[in-house]
Amino acid sequence: MTSRTPPTPPAEAVRVSEVLAALSFALDLTEGEPMGHSLRTCLIGMELADHLGLSLQDRRDLYYAMMLKDVGCSSSSARVHELFGGDDRLAQHWLKLVDWGNTLKAARFGLKHFVPGDSLGERARRVAMLARAGSSVATELVEMRSTRGASIVRRLGLGERAAEAVRSIDEHWDGSGRPRGARGDEIPLLSRIICISQILEVFAMVHGPRGAIQLAQSKKGRWFDPALVEACDHRLEQRMALWCALNAQGLRDAVRNGEPDGASLLAGPGTLDRIALGFAEVVDAKSPFTASHSFRVTEMALKIAARLGHGTEQLIELRRAALLHDIGKLYVPNSILDKPGRLGPEEWETVRLHPYYTQRILEHIRGFENLAVIAGAHHERLDGRGYFQGLRAEQIPLGSRVIATADIYDALTTARPYRPALPEETAVQLMERDRGIGLSGDCLDALADVLQAGEGGEYLGRVA
Ligand SMILES: [Fe+2]
Ligand SMILES: [Fe+2]
Repeated sequence: MTSRTPPTPPAEAVRVSEVLAALSFALDLTEGEPMGHSLRTCLIGMELADHLGLSLQDRRDLYYAMMLKDVGCSSSSARVHELFGGDDRLAQHWLKLVDWGNTLKAARFGLKHFVPGDSLGERARRVAMLARAGSSVATELVEMRSTRGASIVRRLGLGERAAEAVRSIDEHWDGSGRPRGARGDEIPLLSRIICISQILEVFAMVHGPRGAIQLAQSKKGRWFDPALVEACDHRLEQRMALWCALNAQGLRDAVRNGEPDGASLLAGPGTLDRIALGFAEVVDAKSPFTASHSFRVTEMALKIAARLGHGTEQLIELRRAALLHDIGKLYVPNSILDKPGRLGPEEWETVRLHPYYTQRILEHIRGFENLAVIAGAHHERLDGRGYFQGLRAEQIPLGSRVIATADIYDALTTARPYRPALPEETAVQLMERDRGIGLSGDCLDALADVLQAGEGGEYLGRVA
């Protein structure tokens, strides 16, 4: 074959920044921050970069690094929950604001925020435990997320400097930051900009832009590079006020318009696949019980779909939908995901919302509209008793039925907090009871074919 598809005209091409901007909302959810935190941080950082007259290359690396600054966040969620109890998203939010070098402040934080429903005695026990562990706990958490974050940025193809910038965003100018305790110019400039920008954003949303800048000034030379604090002027204050008032669409537009001229990356098919893989990893890292789940579901869904005669285009879409089907789970706290016992009604309601968030997050990516619908319907059942929409048989896209089959098979054959993994035959027997009621007979036949062909267990590696 020598014929080649002509390249898509640039005007219609999806930019990497658009995709990352949409997905950054999922990172905000995990991080316990208000939606748009990453994008507002990005706008603040780009304003500082302009003020400092950074080169085009620096601004480009900074721009992508800021949208992905929290991409490693889910890897510490389970550990944060284990240490702090309660809602890991709240703990992640407060962790950013606490000066862990100050024992008194850290203790006050602990007493106020550890498992607010627990007795004072239980909270005091956790504070004492953390005091014994010292600041090594905070270092462990930051190390975990910064290393994972940098490695994902690298794999997304955004370059070593963007990866290194993400790795060092929690370092402080005076050496009191983490994980390495780097100081001054040892910290990459881009990391220093992200560090101050994210704290400015958090405080601007709570105390207003002026309060945020006053906080930055109080940490000048301690947490923050003095030159960056000096760049926080009246103009930045005014712009922060504007950005804090924008809705999600307004934020996406502002970030799109703020992309460094001439440095935009276009999201070709390979890039979109890499991004889907990277975010599947973010989702799977959230809980030890979902490690590699998205990858295994994708592999099985592709095998089922191939037996059902899906064409190449459908398979490409299905692959991305399956990789991202549980991205809405980033909204579910680990206190629920990792709970060993039965879920209460409210907890169960939170779980039932995850496909809703999956759809909402993905539908804002141009070209992903159909994929968002497929991924968002992966918990629907033929009898209309699924969630979150209660769709019935013919209303459920075929791709969603395929993913549902692969998803349930994987859930049954892997361990859960409340039960061990079931053997393949038991899982299939259980699923057969739901034939034509919840699950599609065609998909179950295809699953049986895959398993009979001995292809059931060889998932990893091929999906990547
Ligand atoms: Fe799900
Ligand atoms: Fe799933």
